[in-house]
Amino acid sequence: MSEKNFNFVDEVRRRRTFAIISHPDAGKTTLTEKFLLYGGAIRSAGSVKSRRSQKHAVSDWMEIEKQRGISVTSSVLQFEYNNFCINILDTPGHQDFSEDTYRTLVAADSAVMVIDCSKGVEDQTKKLFQVCKMRGIPIFTFINKMDREGRDPFELLEDIENVLGIRSCPVNWPIGSGKEFVGVFNRHKNQVELFNDGNHGQAIAQSTTGDISDEKFTELLGQSLHEQLLSDIELLDIAGDNFDIDEILAGNLTPVFFGSALTNFGVEPFLESFLDITTPPKARMSDLGEVNPESDNFSGFIFKIQANMNPAHRDRIAFLRICSGKFEKGMAVNHVQQGKKIKLSQPQQFMAQDRVIVDSAYPGDIIGIHDPGIFNIGDTLCQDQSRLKYKGIPQFAPEHFATISAKNSMKRKQFLKGISQLSEEGAIQVYKRPNTGVEELIVGVVGVLQFEVLEYRLKNEYGVDILMHKLPYGHIRWIEMENFNYTRFSLAMDTVVLEDKDQNPVILLQNEWSVRNVLERNEGLVLRETSRVD
Ligand code: G4P
Repeated sequence: MSEKNFNFVDEVRRRRTFAIISHPDAGKTTLTEKFLLYGGAIRSAGSVKSRRSQKHAVSDWMEIEKQRGISVTSSVLQFEYNNFCINILDTPGHQDFSEDTYRTLVAADSAVMVIDCSKGVEDQTKKLFQVCKMRGIPIFTFINKMDREGRDPFELLEDIENVLGIRSCPVNWPIGSGKEFVGVFNRHKNQVELFNDGNHGQAIAQSTTGDISDEKFTELLGQSLHEQLLSDIELLDIAGDNFDIDEILAGNLTPVFFGSALTNFGVEPFLESFLDITTPPKARMSDLGEVNPESDNFSGFIFKIQANMNPAHRDRIAFLRICSGKFEKGMAVNHVQQGKKIKLSQPQQFMAQDRVIVDSAYPGDIIGIHDPGIFNIGDTLCQDQSRLKYKGIPQFAPEHFATISAKNSMKRKQFLKGISQLSEEGAIQVYKRPNTGVEELIVGVVGVLQFEVLEYRLKNEYGVDILMHKLPYGHIRWIEMENFNYTRFSLAMDTVVLEDKDQNPVILLQNEWSVRNVLERNEGLVLRETSRVD
């Protein structure tokens, strides 16, 4: 897709792959759309998201998402800007789907956190932020909706530091707010950038830039805004954290930008600084040591599986993050976990609104490959015989459990197929009672809305109505114990031992107190909050 002729190393170095996270409604979708607008991938804003009913047209597939106005699944988009090739991983905003977000963040090299200036750090931002912290990736903060009256910018910085526990360093500082939000001061370039109306955000915003001491800005801003800006900058210089690239890249300091995705003010300066500060894909750890993205050996891992994305095709797509080497259509690779050679013949990429077949792709890129039911989340694919394995992605502890069965027993086959596919996607986790001969299925989910999605998808994609009986457990732990034996295990009241899909023993408990109780009753027992991964 590139117009210029880049060699392999250039291709790797011009890649930037990031996830975008926010509390619902902070403006993630709008900002993503504006990136596409600036990258020339769409001609005018609003072509993607002009009315509420079309809200999730770019990134969302499922009808339920439209109905509820929430994003259930993560999606991937690629676009070009100033010779950079950018991959955006969109994540569901709703907390009930944070497991999907976690898996997506494993595939990202950095994250952009969008915050609503009138709300500050919201609940869901906190959760998602913690996941970024766990991954140790750089986090960029975009404080959005500056065209509306919001909280004081200094207060917002304090909020980020106090609530999220990360130091912050504003790169752009807002000039005015609400109706008076006219531009930003770029502290890096020591430059004022005033925006002119971009046709209500439909078109790219034009701007006037220059040195703050230039008299024209005193005139353009008016005395009071100009003085306010000078005093803000002075205060930031004295009291704020210094810009430190190493600390940013280590995820200890977040560079902060102010803007309005709706009017486009501050979007381009943000994008430019972001591309300037972030790095191309870095080496990733495997069981055989670090893998350099610029090595010849193609390798990557599956971080997401999504069935029935296109109801017309009923296909199943595995999302692969490329970590090293060049991918070429039709290439044969080793599926390391299964010890099989497979041919990747119909690889897809997600460009702006379309899915297209790709001929080649590079480290940092995400490709969708047709999955005839052979992939699991966390699987590694590689080209040479080294059979390296990237670290797997753990299953997260569900907090809600239910027994489920097909309403109509004649539909049991479709029911089991649906359950098995949705479990492979990671949309639900499935457990069984060991050694009882009882064919009862117990499903665990991280958020209750996932139950709704499960019911909806089983009906719409597999034609099965289900009976669901919620269980009173709220905690699960993976059991680790030498010579573990189901019959000799001492259970506390209100607990049950089950088997996960890989036949690992797990225990369901009603409260934290029972965790301690079970530990006391069984010597040598270790209880883990996530499944183990190789
Ligand atoms: P999300 O993906 O994070 O959930 O948020 P989304 O972009 O859908 O934005 C949520 C609402 O906030 C939308 O309004 C959107 O237009 C508005 N919005 C986004 N960025 C800005 C901004 O910079 N300034 C202002 N003032 N509003 C912004 P809506 O009424 O819910 O939807 P719509 O009818 O506008 O599509």
